[in-house]
Amino acid sequence: MEIRECKWFENFKENWISGQEVQTSQKLYKDAKGFYESIDESLDPQTVMYTVYTCEQGDPKTGNLNWGLSVLEPVTVKGECNVTRGHFHEDLDCDEIYVCAQGEGFLLLMDENGKCTAEIMKSGSIHHIDGHQAHRLVNTGDTQLAVLCCWPSTAGHDYERVEAMPFSARAFKIDHQIIWKEGE
Ligand SMILES: [Fe+2]
Repeated sequence: MEIRECKWFENFKENWISGQEVQTSQKLYKDAKGFYESIDESLDPQTVMYTVYTCEQGDPKTGNLNWGLSVLEPVTVKGECNVTRGHFHEDLDCDEIYVCAQGEGFLLLMDENGKCTAEIMKSGSIHHIDGHQAHRLVNTGDTQLAVLCCWPSTAGHDYERVEAMPFSARAFKIDHQIIWKEGE
């Protein structure tokens, strides 16, 4: 019998996630300006907004699962809480599971008619995402928001659809209070 080490390892205190072929991508403010209601000229364009670690299983095939971790910095853009780009899945029949590892914020969901729902995220919260809903993360806390993700490798990411129909709800931090604004 073979005894072996695990394929991937999470260590939130050191390097977040490590192991075989972990892909890391950082989203800088200069490439994320369109995610927010307003552009903040005072924010350094090189500011790291979030980092995504992805563990892929190779060729997409039915039933394959990917694993990932998103870490959002506690940054605000003219008062607006930091968000991920957000997406629909190309295959709307593919669901996804998010688990909040640390921090606090919201999972913002939007159905195909543009109706938004915000689900509270806190350490330990587990979230099921219906593939027919667009999803983005919102960090409302004063610390990093770290969220583990598991999704089918065949789901795909449809970013254009949320650019054509942006999330209509946005969270702002005003005097340490979270205020939601809805409607364009
Ligand atoms: Fe997704």
